[in-house]
Amino acid sequence: MSVSVDPTTEPTSARPTGNESAEALRPHAEHAFAGELAALAAQDDRPRPARWRLSPWAVATYLLGGVLPDGTVISPKYVGPRRIVEVAVSTLATDRALLLLGVPGTAKTWVSEHLAAAVSGDSTLLVQGTAGTPEEAIRYGWNYAQLLAHGPSRDALVPSPVMRAMADGATVRVEELTRIPADVQDTLITILSEKTLPIPELGQEVQAVRGFSLIATANDRDRGVNELSSALRRRFNTVVLPLPESVEAEVDIVARRVDQIGRSLDLPTAPDGIDEIRRVVTVFRELRAGVTSDGRTKVKSPSGTLSTAEAISVVTGGLALAAHFGDGVLRAGDVAAGVLGAVVRDPAADRVVWQEYLEAVVRERAGWTDFYRACREVSA
Ligand SMILES: Nc1ncnc2c1ncn2[C@@H]1O[C@H](COP(=O)(O)OP(=O)(O)OP(=O)(O)O)[C@@H](O)[C@H]1O
Ligand SMILES: [Mg+2]
Repeated sequence: MSVSVDPTTEPTSARPTGNESAEALRPHAEHAFAGELAALAAQDDRPRPARWRLSPWAVATYLLGGVLPDGTVISPKYVGPRRIVEVAVSTLATDRALLLLGVPGTAKTWVSEHLAAAVSGDSTLLVQGTAGTPEEAIRYGWNYAQLLAHGPSRDALVPSPVMRAMADGATVRVEELTRIPADVQDTLITILSEKTLPIPELGQEVQAVRGFSLIATANDRDRGVNELSSALRRRFNTVVLPLPESVEAEVDIVARRVDQIGRSLDLPTAPDGIDEIRRVVTVFRELRAGVTSDGRTKVKSPSGTLSTAEAISVVTGGLALAAHFGDGVLRAGDVAAGVLGAVVRDPAADRVVWQEYLEAVVRERAGWTDFYRACREVSA
């Protein structure tokens, strides 16, 4: 027998309340970009897969940005190869699950949230993978008061986000899949291949309805913590998210995100510090690559990842400093401490790497004297 899960029986308060957009520190994508999603839905005349809010084409446009026939501008959410987004979206339109793989800070979580928001209008069906994620987080749990009082029944069942998504034909996200213990990961195998979730206690099952899809993210660096079994891996289409290919692309990503975050935090300045952003990004890229951007000088790489995500937080921190304790203009002195904090993770080894880089590269670079001084000051 198949059953559908009635969302009103959910005893936890994890569901969105609907009034979260105004005051939420970080609104969900479907609220933050509600205007863009509505404009896309209104002008999208291409065929939509069952229960999709938009056509695959419109979902890709939502992620990559564009201009609609009526002139509405859709801001780019993901900056990177178009093909990656097209492959991801078309995977969701099939019955295969999507695995976003990449080094830290390559927007895996960000892309999965926006995909879920665009496809299903809801990015909140989420399982956060940790070493302690239990099977119940993927299948279902029980409300023990109900269970003891009335025995196993549908009322006592607490559906997981995965079960909800199956019943509603929606998109569910599993974050950090490879941190989940292997036996718990394997719970997904039946779900992904048979598209059903048995409830043996009730002699029932929940069958996925059309529109159900699953997006998992996993970190390259975590590979080996809990390897994905080959049985599970076969059930995913894997899309690898690359690091931004050029300085300009990365500066663009950082500037965009910092602008958005700055506005949501009411930072009293417009982030006009594009030169400072370029310097932070250049430093991060050179240290990551182990060579200067002109290819002439080899440098050592520190232990931290120095991802785009970290550049975004360094610049956001710098903006707050400039806004509250400076003259509102982002300067080298505002980002120097953040850069140091991001680069020097291991106080002994990374400090040496950083000092060498400062002296050999930053010091000699034309126009970087203020940056060199500011970094020397905080490193002292
Ligand atoms: N190519 C990109 N396009 C747009 N934004 C990006 C890009 N790369 C990174 N970002 C930004 O970086 C931030 C961090 O991304 P996110 O948290 O999704 O990374 P992640 O890959 O999930 O990292 P982790 O492995 O640590 O979980 C986001 O705010 C996102 O906007
Ligand atoms: Mg993530």
